Amino acid sequence: MTLTKEIEKRRTFAIISHPDAGKTTLTEKLLLFGGGIREAGAVKSNKIRKTAVSDFMEIEKQRGISVATAVMTFEYNGHLINILDTPGHKDFAEDTYRTLTAVDSVILVIDCVKGVEEQTQRLMQVCRMRDTPVIVFVNKLDREGRRPLELMDELADKLDIAVRPLSWPINMGRHFKGVFNLHENNLHLFRAGKTQVEQDRLLIETLEDPRLDAQLGSDAAALREDVELIEGVFDPFRVEDYRAGHVAPVFFGSALNNFGVRELLQTFLRIAPPPAARVSDRREIAPDEQEFSGFVFKIHANLDPRHRDRIAFLRVCSGTFRRDKPFLHVRHGRHVRFSTPYSFMAQRKNVIDEAFPGDVIGLYDRGDLKIGDTLTEGESFTFQGIPAFAPEIFRELISTDPMRSKQLEKGIRELSEEGVAQLFTQEVGQRKIIGTVGELQFDVIRYRLEHEYGAACRLESLAFNRACWITAENPARLREFTRFRERQIGYDRDHNPVYFSESEWMLQSTMQAHPEISFHFTSEFTSRARQPRSAAAS
Ligand code: G4P
Repeated sequence: MTLTKEIEKRRTFAIISHPDAGKTTLTEKLLLFGGGIREAGAVKSNKIRKTAVSDFMEIEKQRGISVATAVMTFEYNGHLINILDTPGHKDFAEDTYRTLTAVDSVILVIDCVKGVEEQTQRLMQVCRMRDTPVIVFVNKLDREGRRPLELMDELADKLDIAVRPLSWPINMGRHFKGVFNLHENNLHLFRAGKTQVEQDRLLIETLEDPRLDAQLGSDAAALREDVELIEGVFDPFRVEDYRAGHVAPVFFGSALNNFGVRELLQTFLRIAPPPAARVSDRREIAPDEQEFSGFVFKIHANLDPRHRDRIAFLRVCSGTFRRDKPFLHVRHGRHVRFSTPYSFMAQRKNVIDEAFPGDVIGLYDRGDLKIGDTLTEGESFTFQGIPAFAPEIFRELISTDPMRSKQLEKGIRELSEEGVAQLFTQEVGQRKIIGTVGELQFDVIRYRLEHEYGAACRLESLAFNRACWITAENPARLREFTRFRERQIGYDRDHNPVYFSESEWMLQSTMQAHPEISFHFTSEFTSRARQPRSAAAS
């Protein structure tokens, strides 16, 4: 098969949601359709349930599941589908943010009872930074949820994106009768607990078809009214707008009842983009370029502390990746080769000989790779768009065993390369500040420093709640700004200055008082990296 055909065939995406909206259930149903698994229950929930603060092994065991299910690959209708899994727990949200840099599109699951929840909003901000195309699946229609029109308003408002229903529910909860497919003009009747069969689907030419009344009774008139309203209120759906990330098509269904999932998958395959060009610091890299390139977006430590090797997840962006072929590790400026790269077909790890754009492969690594690293066939460039996101919780790292401080330094540096935490160093007293998005990450850090590096430490709370990277056109003004705020300035591992603030109010007033300084909410401040609108406004 030619490279172009391999690319055309692939769809690489992530399913994201607030915990409990139904991400795991939907993933499983999609895999069942594709034959990726044979029975329900095969996909372990990637949920991390906090049992006790000290129960690290439990967390780690649960995190272990995420390695196994990090990528799920299956074939369906001539397509090769890569679903990238994301941790549901918000304390590991940074992992999710980074995974989103490796996909070409996203399916967002919403619980129809709860509507748009906090975590959904944040994930959506990350999608919008890169204009990632999003399809929304409103789940749990078998429950009494919010009115569909109300949900549409909330989606548009809270997700800050235009929405366009492609299907429409007929009632909800106990009275849920089915979904009208606005795209194909057919009615799909609901039977609880059953998988879909063809006779449950009614193809109609016009909404005036009397079979609608026969099937729906008095609800037929309400459906006609709803459809008229929808066609009047929403612009016609255009695939280009969806692919540009300007409009999110919306589907309704019930993942648990396997209802609406086939429509979702089929429409997804019709409209979702294949692997696209990616931006590097030198030029745009098209997927069909003959020379291989790819980047690392996730690193997972080996769960066995006796082995230091880690697994780096690499997204192939162009050309063909080949086993044992030497590739340029751009940051190190030397060639590396991988003798056992593997893929994740049908839940199993298989050693592969080659991989194509859109594929995600696992590479064994002894500490050479870090998040954001680019591999190429010889050309020197680095992929953009794999930023660090502003952490929200901060602790000072204090060694409690001066004899082991070297190990502590090494440990925290390696853990930050793995993406477990972000490390900032202050000039005053070389104070080390660790930033995360969730408390659980501190448990992980303390445990791993102690068990893998033999370095005991204390993590002391700091009053900061926000960090932003700062730049200025005039370097003298930046120096002046940092000099007067030594205690609020740290430097990331690339020595970029970061400003810590103690409250949202303080951040806003500092921003207003210093228009000469630019504040950035991700570590990547090229002209392409758009600041999340609500982050800027909050
Ligand atoms: P998550 O990965 O987004 O966190 O959600 P998950 O799929 O684990 O689903 C969360 C809960 O919602 C599960 O129930 C699941 O069975 C239920 N659920 C998913 N889809 C639907 C749906 O269409 N309708 C209804 N009524 N429920 C749905 P649980 O009790 O937490 O877990 P379990 O014991 O069923 O596994």
